[in-house]
Amino acid sequence: MAPREQWGTRAGFIMAAVGSAVGLGNMWRFPYYTAENGGAVFVFLYLAMTALIGLPIMLAEMTLGRGARQSPIKALEHYGGKRWMPLGFLFVAAGFLILSYYSVIAGWTVRYFIQAVRGFEGAPADLFGSISQGTPAIAFHLGFLAVTIWVVSNGVKGGIERASTLLMPVLFLVVVGIAVYAWTLPGSGEGYSYYIGWNPSEFVKTGADGGFWAQANVISEAAGQAFFSLSLGMGAMLTFSSYLKKDSHLPNESLVIASADFGVAFIAGLMVFPLIFALGLSSAIGESTVGALFITLPRVFQEMGGVTGHVVGTLFFGALTVGALTSAISLLEVVTSSIIDTFGWARKRAAWVMGATAAALGILPAMSTDALGYMDKIAEGLFLVLGALGLGIFVGYVMKDPVGEVSKGTKGIRWFGVWRTLLRFVVPPIVGFVLIVRLRDIALATLAWFE
Ligand code: TRP
Repeated sequence: MAPREQWGTRAGFIMAAVGSAVGLGNMWRFPYYTAENGGAVFVFLYLAMTALIGLPIMLAEMTLGRGARQSPIKALEHYGGKRWMPLGFLFVAAGFLILSYYSVIAGWTVRYFIQAVRGFEGAPADLFGSISQGTPAIAFHLGFLAVTIWVVSNGVKGGIERASTLLMPVLFLVVVGIAVYAWTLPGSGEGYSYYIGWNPSEFVKTGADGGFWAQANVISEAAGQAFFSLSLGMGAMLTFSSYLKKDSHLPNESLVIASADFGVAFIAGLMVFPLIFALGLSSAIGESTVGALFITLPRVFQEMGGVTGHVVGTLFFGALTVGALTSAISLLEVVTSSIIDTFGWARKRAAWVMGATAAALGILPAMSTDALGYMDKIAEGLFLVLGALGLGIFVGYVMKDPVGEVSKGTKGIRWFGVWRTLLRFVVPPIVGFVLIVRLRDIALATLAWFE
């Protein structure tokens, strides 16, 4: 068998992992969840979730991947025997499912990118209606996925690492640049208070829409968003870590990745809301997150007009597309590497066959945004949560010597005991709670279909 592929450099691995983490979740979901659920109060809750369950699970995935040097299914078998392989199958299923609809949304962003180059015309709501479903949505979904497949088929170093190292710095610069530009605009100030003002009264859900489950939902959103944004719960970080050398310092890497991920998410809000307020469009921020990104922002660029509108709009949707691409790459890589390790296929064949399968599955969410929403509920809402729970239990209780494995490449770090304690006693109850909230949510959504 050919020796396992490896990253070329440490920075290459970091860029690829940050590329996986930074995506639509950061630039789209995070700012709106935050603004809607209490601003700074939500940010603190999110950071607490990242520290208490996100980082421990990321470290668990990295430990498994680097230790076993195998993709998820084989890595679980390696440390836990055959009966843990189904968890790996769940990962692959989640990867397929998420990739199939993620690529549909990414297709919209490509379409918007092209539109931004040309200049937005007409009513943005009509534009969204015409591109989000049906033939155009299918076409851009397929095109986006083809590029993703092409990168993955070129291998870990020559494809994924190269693309991420090239694209991620550009994304950072653009996001920071637009945020700074927005700050210089008169009237942007109110955008900041809308986004991260300290708003406990919005955080605590009371009144008609309040009560226990409403509050439980906000808390589980914070946890779910942390998993999704950090690419956890389906073996993406595990797979990427399987291409690491033994001397890499896993705790440091995980801190760098999580910080960069949070940084981009936070700054994304600093560009979006000040822009919207500076152009006087705050009343157009709709109820749905889809509306905010794909309807309000095009109006912002329209109102800006002239060269500025073209340039800022193009940069914005370009950055969004880049973020989506490097994330989709990691989703496809989980599926591809599993096939390579399990069936011994060549990389090119595995990438194209698996990518084509996800492409076919994505026709459904490209036809109907309702189907897309439901698939997201199942994959992000359920599979990732189950996956994270499984990972916590596996590394916390089943794996023989996780502390011995994670500490390779580090010298004299003493808080690994804390990590294991979090995995054993903090992760399962919190994630278990999230699971209950999500199951209820899915049951309600399913019942609503039959009404
Ligand atoms: N983290 C990405 C985002 O925020 C999405 C993503 C990529 C992902 N790979 C993943 C989510 C693996 C969960 C698991 O958009």
